[in-house]
Amino acid sequence: MKLDGKIIRRVVTVSIGASALATALSASAYPFSKEELAEQEAALLSAVDKGYHLWHGSNPAMTTNGLACGNCHPDAAAANPQTFPKYVPMFGKVVPFREMVNWCILNPQAGKALDVNGEDMTAMEAYAFYLHRSKPIEPGLAARQTAPIVVDSGTGYPRKPTGIGVDK
Ligand code: HEC
Repeated sequence: MKLDGKIIRRVVTVSIGASALATALSASAYPFSKEELAEQEAALLSAVDKGYHLWHGSNPAMTTNGLACGNCHPDAAAANPQTFPKYVPMFGKVVPFREMVNWCILNPQAGKALDVNGEDMTAMEAYAFYLHRSKPIEPGLAARQTAPIVVDSGTGYPRKPTGIGVDK
C-alpha cells in the first residue's frame, strides 16, 4: 500500500511537470522564442564581426611583418574551413582548422599563436566558417587544398613578401 502511494505520487508529479512544460512550450515557439533566436543570431554575428577584424589585423600580436590573413586569404579565400579536420602533409597528421590558423600566424605572419581555446580563435573560426556556409562539408580532403590567393595589398596593410609558399 505504501509502495502504491509512492508510485501514484510519482505519476502525479510527472504529469503535472509535463503539463507545465506543455504550457510553457505553447507560450513560446519551441525550442526558442523569436527573441531568443534573434539574440543567438546577434551573438554569432558579433563573433563573425570580431573575426573579420582579427582577419584584417586588429590584433597586432598576430603579426610582426605587417601581413594579415586578408592579404593572402581575402574574404577567407582558400582557407577551406569546411574541409577540416584533414590530413595536412606538412604536419604529417590530421589537424583541426585551428591548427592551420596558428600555423599561418606563426609562419607567414611571424606572429604569436592564438590560444586554441580562446575567444579570438573562436571568432576566427566564426568568420571563416560563416563565409563558407552552404559549402559541402568534405573533411579529410587534403587534395582539395587550394593555394592562397596572394594580393598586392590588403585593406590598408603594407605588403612584405615572406618568401613562404606562394608568397614571393
Ligand atoms: C603570406 C601569405 C599568407 C598569410 C598572410 C596567411 N596565410 Fe594562410 N596559407 C598560406 C599558405 C602558403 C598556405 C598553404 C600552406 C600549405 O599547406 O602548404 C596557407 C594555408 C592556410 C589554411 C589551410 C587551407 C587549406 O585548404 O588547407 C588556412 C586555414 C589558413 N591558411 C588560414 C590563415 C589565417 C587564419 C591567416 C591569418 C592569421 C593566414 N592564413 C595568413 C599563406 C598565408
